Amino acid sequence: MISIVEYADRYFDGVDALWRNAFPNDPPWNAAHISIPEKVRYQPNLLLVAIGADQVVGSIMAGYDGHRGWISRIAVLQSHRRNGIGEALIHEAERRLADLGCVKINLQVVASNSTVLGFYRKCGYELEERVSMSKLLPRV
Ligand SMILES: CC(C)(COP(=O)(O)OP(=O)(O)OC[C@H]1O[C@@H](n2cnc3c(N)ncnc32)[C@H](O)[C@@H]1OP(=O)(O)O)[C@@H](O)C(=O)NCCC(=O)NCCS
Repeated sequence: MISIVEYADRYFDGVDALWRNAFPNDPPWNAAHISIPEKVRYQPNLLLVAIGADQVVGSIMAGYDGHRGWISRIAVLQSHRRNGIGEALIHEAERRLADLGCVKINLQVVASNSTVLGFYRKCGYELEERVSMSKLLPRV
């Protein structure tokens, strides 16, 4: 039995371990000890974890900027994949974004992770012709 709940500090080690496993090539600024406290400061109810047998088995982070919803950090423990947990995490994030008035959700997939596209398609997401750009800001 899996439940999807809001992140709490007692889940930190589980999420950290999950992300290290699921995102082995993550840049340093995505590390759990940096990104979780920031998310807890902004829209903490959009950082969700899937819990099974008292263990973190999945995660998702969403955000609403007043124009678009965003989804990131979706991950499920390898041992628990293909059991519908990822889809359940997406649905709960979508429900919470819709409650905030969000009408469209965007997400990004790194080109080398194209195998995940089948999952997003199953969840109703479509490819859009976009070029993604980004900029790192200096820490003040
Ligand atoms: C993507 C991920 C979260 C999916 O989690 P999951 O719990 O296994 O997904 P679900 O069981 O809910 O899958 C639902 C459906 O999506 C599709 N799907 C899931 N994984 C898939 C894959 N690797 N390839 C193709 N289709 C896939 C299937 O249609 C699946 O239904 P089915 O099992 O009945 O065939 C998981 O594979 C993961 O953690 N990957 C590593 C992290 C990652 O790359 N995250 C995305 C960053 S953009």
